[in-house]
Amino acid sequence: MSDNRQVSAALEMQGIRKAFPGVVANDGVDLEVREGEIHALLGENGAGKTTLVNVLVGLLRPDAGWIRVHGRPVEIRSPRDALGLGIGMVHQDFLQSERHTALQNVVLGHPSVPFRPSYRSLRERVAALGERVGLRVNLDAPIHDLPVGERQKVEILRALFHEARFLVLDEPTAVLSPPEADTLFAFLGRFRSNGGAVVFITHKMTEVLALADRATILRRGRKVGTVDVAGCDARTLARLTIGRDPSGGAKGDGPPLGPEVAALEGVTVLDARGLPRLSEVTLSVRGGEILGVAGVAGSGQDALVEVLTGLARPARGTVRLHGRRVPRPSPAAFRAAQTACIPEDRMRSGVALELSVVANLVLGLHRTRFSRLGMIRWRAARAWAQERIATLGIACPDPEARVGTLSGGNVQKVILARELASVPHLLVAAHPCRGLDVGAAEDVRSQLVAVRDRGAAVVLVSEDLDEMLRLSTRMAVLFRGRLVGVLPAMESTREAVGCLMAGLQP
Ligand SMILES: Nc1ncnc2c1ncn2[C@@H]1O[C@H](COP(=O)(O)OP(=O)(O)O)[C@@H](O)[C@H]1O
Ligand SMILES: [Mg+2]
Repeated sequence: MSDNRQVSAALEMQGIRKAFPGVVANDGVDLEVREGEIHALLGENGAGKTTLVNVLVGLLRPDAGWIRVHGRPVEIRSPRDALGLGIGMVHQDFLQSERHTALQNVVLGHPSVPFRPSYRSLRERVAALGERVGLRVNLDAPIHDLPVGERQKVEILRALFHEARFLVLDEPTAVLSPPEADTLFAFLGRFRSNGGAVVFITHKMTEVLALADRATILRRGRKVGTVDVAGCDARTLARLTIGRDPSGGAKGDGPPLGPEVAALEGVTVLDARGLPRLSEVTLSVRGGEILGVAGVAGSGQDALVEVLTGLARPARGTVRLHGRRVPRPSPAAFRAAQTACIPEDRMRSGVALELSVVANLVLGLHRTRFSRLGMIRWRAARAWAQERIATLGIACPDPEARVGTLSGGNVQKVILARELASVPHLLVAAHPCRGLDVGAAEDVRSQLVAVRDRGAAVVLVSEDLDEMLRLSTRMAVLFRGRLVGVLPAMESTREAVGCLMAGLQP
């Protein structure tokens, strides 16, 4: 056994197959993970990554295939089985018990924790664990009060409390701000040094290059290969992932600038407690330009998006649309001015998860284009939806499938297809590429550029500075709710933007 252990991987999946109605999500996939390594799992949206790790942690039963841990064949029927084998998962959508505190979420379900535990001693143990591994959280807070970064730490602490030696993370940084991601990476590095193994799904090649030892690439349910990351660059990884050369989404020159489409003058937005979310922001965006909005998380980007879609009403200041003052800004006023929005929280406000792809695509159009005498013209709607699905490459087995069953990238494409069905004058896009794979992100970016080229004004809020420098005409920087600068977006602007984001003068 001990000899065996030297050569065999710590964890092996072999020939994993898993089919869903209409799609083979995993088609004979192998994955081999060694102790002391960070192993990235790459692939476009819908490639089968989440399915594979869900099989590994017992959330899905495979149709075929084997799993071995330290060379020993195992059956993993539930996340509890997986945890018993030292495999802990940090989910993309947290599966935490909302009714419980952070501490309870960490300890509950552990074999040594009784039905009515004494939380005082457990609290000490978990706090000490948190100190040791450098993950500090407010253990007494109800879990639903914690921001996502903290909830993620709770998930990790739970795995560690259960003595996990393998950590599985499904797009862990998609929801994190850059400093939170740094904290996570520092932790994962230490976990690896101590002999732990990490399986890590991400779309960000920079993260793979910075963190991973090896990467396994999936494409349409099959394994393309496993590579040593040290011998790769971002381009190679992207090519393996999408099966062709990434085009890079160059911005080109863009059309000549048109007239002002939307403008804010001295706009202040207050939160429920009367504190400013935005302070005296004066800003305008013209047709034919992409205005990038930069800032560290929580600098007022949300409030800006809300003002520019009519969701938040300024406490002070003026809003202008097409040069005219809007006395009572509202979503209806912005819609009337042909505003489209890609919301940050797609799952909650972007789509109706219970409805079909077709229904989601025609939502909002059902009263106009696809209505006759008050009836929805379903046949015409369906034909149009089919065309959109093909054009945008939305991967869904069937247009009648519920949107809730699609992967994140495909949900985003559904929103895009709908919002861009008629040409907007103003497009407000909040983190449109967050969590998308290289291919899907590229598609979304070229849509933004196409909208700009048709003369619309685009406001792009993103945490990806490179993306914004590449796409934007100008960059606005927010710091603590104030607009601290507007600069032409050129590569040379990077440092200056970074300074402004940190509240410094460049
Ligand atoms: N529960 C499910 N029911 C039906 N189809 C599913 C389900 N989960 C995933 N799929 C489909 O399986 C394929 C792979 O999905 P997934 O593993 O989530 O991909 P990834 O994580 O790489 O984006 C996709 O086509 C997806 O629509
Ligand atoms: Mg996934």
